Amino acid sequence: MQKSLSIYNFQQNETIASIGSSSGVWEIWFASQVEDLTFYLQDVDVQNCNQAEINEGVKYFEKLVGKKNTGKFIPIIGTQSATNLPKNTFDKVLIINSLHEFETPKIILHDIQKILKSNGKLFIEEQTAKFSGEIHEGCGKQLFTENELIEILANCGFQVIETYFKDNGVIVFKIISSL
Ligand SMILES: C[S@@+](CC[C@H](N)C(=O)[O-])C[C@H]1O[C@@H](n2cnc3c(N)ncnc32)[C@H](O)[C@@H]1O
Repeated sequence: MQKSLSIYNFQQNETIASIGSSSGVWEIWFASQVEDLTFYLQDVDVQNCNQAEINEGVKYFEKLVGKKNTGKFIPIIGTQSATNLPKNTFDKVLIINSLHEFETPKIILHDIQKILKSNGKLFIEEQTAKFSGEIHEGCGKQLFTENELIEILANCGFQVIETYFKDNGVIVFKIISSL
């Protein structure tokens, strides 16, 4: 998490969307490290992505870190074809361990073009496949190879400007719109 925090380089008062955030464990921790962040926590799963679950997470990290969390957290339920997030709003959009679970990643990536501010950044943190067709042990879904992911992004008008390598084949892609 610490390495991801330094890559995402959040600034005070930024507005960030996390797509496929579940109950926002990562994002709540990020907001315990940087003041006054606003996170739209988005998922298709209402059982985990809801205000009660988020409030529990905030309480947990406030106790762990020993200070009040100044973040604002807004749960948003999307569908497999729409994020339901507001347009032209976000300084940063995160997709953490989730892209390979999206049924139609290209549709969601086109949607992300509309919700990012003009100078906004997209970050995708994904375990990548060692060979094409590799299945993720945890969820049984197919992982992307690094090249497959870069190609999908290019087809959706995105350009990878930096890649960061974490443990176990996890890569963080820093991305801008090329439209
Ligand atoms: C492996 S979990 C990752 C959760 C969290 N980001 C983390 O790293 O702990 C993947 C999440 O993606 C969500 N998901 C699947 N398809 C989605 C879609 N089209 N849009 C948004 N979220 C989706 C799932 O409901 C699930 O919560």
